[in-house]
Amino acid sequence: MAPALGSSDSELFKFASERAPPIPQRKRERTSLFLNALVPSAFAVLGVTGLIGNTPLLRINSLSDALGVEILGKAEFLNPGGSVKDRVALRMIDDAERLGLLRPYTGSRIFEGTVGSTGISIATIARARGYDATIIMPDDVAEEKVKVLQALGAEVERVRPASIVDKKQYVNIARQRAKNFGRLDSIDESNAINRPHLIPSSTDSVLVSTTSSHVQFEDDPKENEEFLTKPRGYFADQFENRSNFDAHFEGTGPELWRQANGRIHAFVSGAGTGGTIAGVGQYVKSMNENVVVALADPEGSGLFNKVKHGVMYDRKESEGTKRRHQVDTVVEGIGINRLTKNIELALPIIDDAFRITDAEAVAMSRYLVKHDGLFLGSSSACNLVACVKLVRRMGWSEGQTVATILCDSGNRHYSKFWNDDYLRKANIPVNPAIVEELLLPLPPLESR
Ligand SMILES: Cc1ncc(COP(=O)(O)O)c(C=O)c1O
Repeated sequence: MAPALGSSDSELFKFASERAPPIPQRKRERTSLFLNALVPSAFAVLGVTGLIGNTPLLRINSLSDALGVEILGKAEFLNPGGSVKDRVALRMIDDAERLGLLRPYTGSRIFEGTVGSTGISIATIARARGYDATIIMPDDVAEEKVKVLQALGAEVERVRPASIVDKKQYVNIARQRAKNFGRLDSIDESNAINRPHLIPSSTDSVLVSTTSSHVQFEDDPKENEEFLTKPRGYFADQFENRSNFDAHFEGTGPELWRQANGRIHAFVSGAGTGGTIAGVGQYVKSMNENVVVALADPEGSGLFNKVKHGVMYDRKESEGTKRRHQVDTVVEGIGINRLTKNIELALPIIDDAFRITDAEAVAMSRYLVKHDGLFLGSSSACNLVACVKLVRRMGWSEGQTVATILCDSGNRHYSKFWNDDYLRKANIPVNPAIVEELLLPLPPLESR
């Protein structure tokens, strides 16, 4: 009997294959080749970069139900490189190729200073596009990020955490390495050959060097021999590079707005380079100026004070209690103590800021695993604590919508944020009750 209307695909397939006359072996091979040729490739994405973006928007059920407000997270951890940074890395490389600064399969190398996520994204795309990658990172970030980078074939250099004014800070070293790449034939800096090895670029942040000794700057950059054949060194500079902002203003922001049907009351995000909060924040404000944009800032970062009091200053800085030079927290990827071009694009549109403690971020991560089966990284947990605090501060409980970014997954954080022994030694409690308290029902209006 034929399967009934509404039968499952497997029932229909079983029925069809039982009824079809058997195909002889040789013919079966030819048939499948023929069918393969007909498979509609419209459904296939073009390589690994085709998997970047268009991430789902996820309702965080436990928090939404407890607050009476829709808490939505953009699942950026589903990008192929495992984080929101895939969008930025792709845009930086695309823009460099479009501007005639980089050309695939010329032996060119991309340099970046990063706490890890952007490096992993660059290394992934570099492989797919025919570049090499050198990633400079502080030596106190979670070990698993280094392992991924090495597996992707990137050259990894780990340096002592240092202040941005120090030549040995990881971003400064990345810039220097890119600069020196164009002097491949020099033995050391004092011996460097004096020739025009830096390519002028329209943006003053990225730095491009060439190994060629014949650079004709007046040529069409995409036509000249030097561009077509000679290896270049490219410093991507996510902190200052405008492509970072554009990836979010033209990508993440519009996607989020469409997925939420234009119904967003607030957008919450942390800031590492500032690209996400600047790009998405500016986009949602351009669609509706009443959307509240709020910053989630970890301990030791100066941004909270910058937003609230106009000065980039964190109390811990003066106490000499810092565990890290970048920001004093177990949270990785967000928090910063200097103004970058991308942060400057964000500051005018940030309405509110929340200081999130390590204990709160850890508590949120454990709470979400327990109630939602969601295994998230530290910056996502920070963002969600700030969502809850914002909802409480606004007194919302009637189905308003708060959107945020789920930047990466817990599997990038086993050695620190998801390591209870490490946290115990760092005196950071692991106590989901901290979140339960934040979620306690509000007292009736008259008694508040
Ligand atoms: C895991 C993670 N989350 C969030 C961020 C912050 O994003 P943005 O640099 O856009 O401010 C970063 C930045 O490196 C990150 O690595």
